[in-house]
Amino acid sequence: MKFFVDTADIDAIAELNATGMVDGVTTNPSLILKSGRDILEVTREICALVDGPVSAEVVSLEADDMIAEGRKLAKIAPNIAVKVPLTWAGLKTCKTLTDEGHMVNVTLCFSANQALLAAKAGATFISPFVGRLDDINMDGMDLISDIRAIYDNFGFETQILVASVRTVNQVTQSALIGADVITAPPSVLKKLADHPLTDAGLAAFMADWAKTGQKIL
Ligand code: E4P
Repeated sequence: MKFFVDTADIDAIAELNATGMVDGVTTNPSLILKSGRDILEVTREICALVDGPVSAEVVSLEADDMIAEGRKLAKIAPNIAVKVPLTWAGLKTCKTLTDEGHMVNVTLCFSANQALLAAKAGATFISPFVGRLDDINMDGMDLISDIRAIYDNFGFETQILVASVRTVNQVTQSALIGADVITAPPSVLKKLADHPLTDAGLAAFMADWAKTGQKIL
């Protein structure tokens, strides 16, 4: 399963990228606002830093304008995935841009039928938002299972990109279901390495090592 990092913070991306854990990056208008950066500039920097797909989102609501924005974003670098919302205008944009050979990430997916439409439009990625479903007392992971089953039933190659991930358990569940990708904020990705028994074991090893009086370097 691939790990994308859900941020437009260059320093955070660089720090995680050095561990080899970053297979791609996702951004959205809210993350661009949070970064305080110009979208074209910061996206260009991210694309230079990370080899994998970098999602950059269109902001128009009409298909013709979305397509024009998508083409402009795609010119930033070959690893851009143009992110479009799951609306009919977004689906038309997805079809047009994928036919032109661009990667497209269809975002704001909250139902299995929406995911079916995105696959039929040729999406490279579908982004179901599990955390926001959990927020309204629905089960986000049930949606991931349903999409996995539907895509497997018909052999759709659209990759399931689990988005709005807020917990490490959602990462485990995504891997068990067989999602292709998860995207999570740096804070959640960092927590994946945490375990209290690792901390306790390391503290005991360090205490015993100090008693040996030895050095390796
Ligand atoms: C993914 O592409 C989205 O940008 C992101 O995962 C949304 O997460 P949020 O619901 O925590 O804002």
